[in-house]
Amino acid sequence: MRLTTGIGALGLLAVPTVHAWGSLGHITVAYIATKFVKEDTATYFQDLLRNDTEHYMAGVATWADSIRYTKWGRFTKNFHFIDAKDTPPSYCGVDFERDCKEDGCVVSSIQNYTLQLFDSSLYPWRRAQAAKFVIHFVGDIHQPLHAENVAQGGNGIHVKWGNSELNLHHVWDTSIAEKMLGGVRRRQYQAAFEWAANLSSEIQTGKYMAQSKSWTDGMNLDDPIATSMAWANESNAFICSHVLPEGPREIVGQQLAGEYFEKAAPVIELQVARAGYRLAAWLDLIVDRITQSAQAVGSEEL
Ligand SMILES: *[C@@H]1O[C@H](CO)[C@@H](O)[C@H](O)[C@H]1NC(C)=O
Ligand SMILES: *[C@@H]1O[C@H](CO)[C@@H](O)[C@H](O)[C@H]1NC(C)=O
Ligand SMILES: *[C@@H]1O[C@H](CO)[C@@H](O)[C@H](O)[C@H]1NC(C)=O
Ligand SMILES: *[C@@H]1O[C@H](CO)[C@@H](O)[C@H](O)[C@H]1NC(C)=O
Repeated sequence: MRLTTGIGALGLLAVPTVHAWGSLGHITVAYIATKFVKEDTATYFQDLLRNDTEHYMAGVATWADSIRYTKWGRFTKNFHFIDAKDTPPSYCGVDFERDCKEDGCVVSSIQNYTLQLFDSSLYPWRRAQAAKFVIHFVGDIHQPLHAENVAQGGNGIHVKWGNSELNLHHVWDTSIAEKMLGGVRRRQYQAAFEWAANLSSEIQTGKYMAQSKSWTDGMNLDDPIATSMAWANESNAFICSHVLPEGPREIVGQQLAGEYFEKAAPVIELQVARAGYRLAAWLDLIVDRITQSAQAVGSEEL
């Protein structure tokens, strides 16, 4: 049971868990990463994923969501998030021992599938699958409600969005980003491509130019857990400041498409930009290491 006591009193709904950063977010993250990876990295993953177009990452960015509710993919259902058992808004923070479930979480999964990419004994299709998981989970971890336990990452919190009633998780996965782009139904890839181009230029020469230099600080391929725990903790901090600034009871039934949206939009933008930039750096590190070990093996053989 994941629903904790007091849910009824909070007026929270027991809806099925739909832990999934919307497709728009994932595809945009993938296109940003595509923009920033080194040429060798692009070649490596185009080869592994058997797609030599500029869509090689974007095309697989939502695959992990497409299999999670299938019989085969059920084992991955907890891999998309880490349930920080904090108490927003007074205290935020993620603790790996406390919050990662026995069968895994987004932090352990980034490690698991990163290590699989190095494992040359695995068939290429297994390593391609690992790549798809890494591309997806680095996106997920940057959505604040993927690093929060309250009401199943906000899935059980009912709010107003314009004339609709939605759950809070959905608002952060999808609604905020779509509203920022003026609605994107049916043209997700095109919208994501344009958004990624904009955010990439903000990183290269615009409002993120200065701060993006520190986005890869502390990134350590020898310690994927510590690396992604820092991302999770940073993401979770927005729970206290922007997602539940007055706590989980206060937000129930509130209209979020107005002032709340205005404050949330810059957070979504920043997190998508960070996720894409970091994904690129992480994939670069992976390919550097694979190339180095291949060279080492090569020179032994001489
Ligand atoms: C590459 O991926 C894109 C997006 O999924 C797809 O439309 C295209 O057909 C793929 N190309 C190849 C050669 O597989
Ligand atoms: C690691 O990935 C494999 C292959 O998908 C999976 O079977 C296993 O459960 C994962 N391990 C953990 C600890 O997540
Ligand atoms: C990208 O930036 C241009 C120019 O600032 C803007 O008109 C457009 O709406 C933006 N598109 C997206 C998808 O962010
Ligand atoms: C995690 O974030 C909290 C605030 O949200 C901060 O106090 C704490 O130092 C952070 N811990 C780590 C390990 O970064």
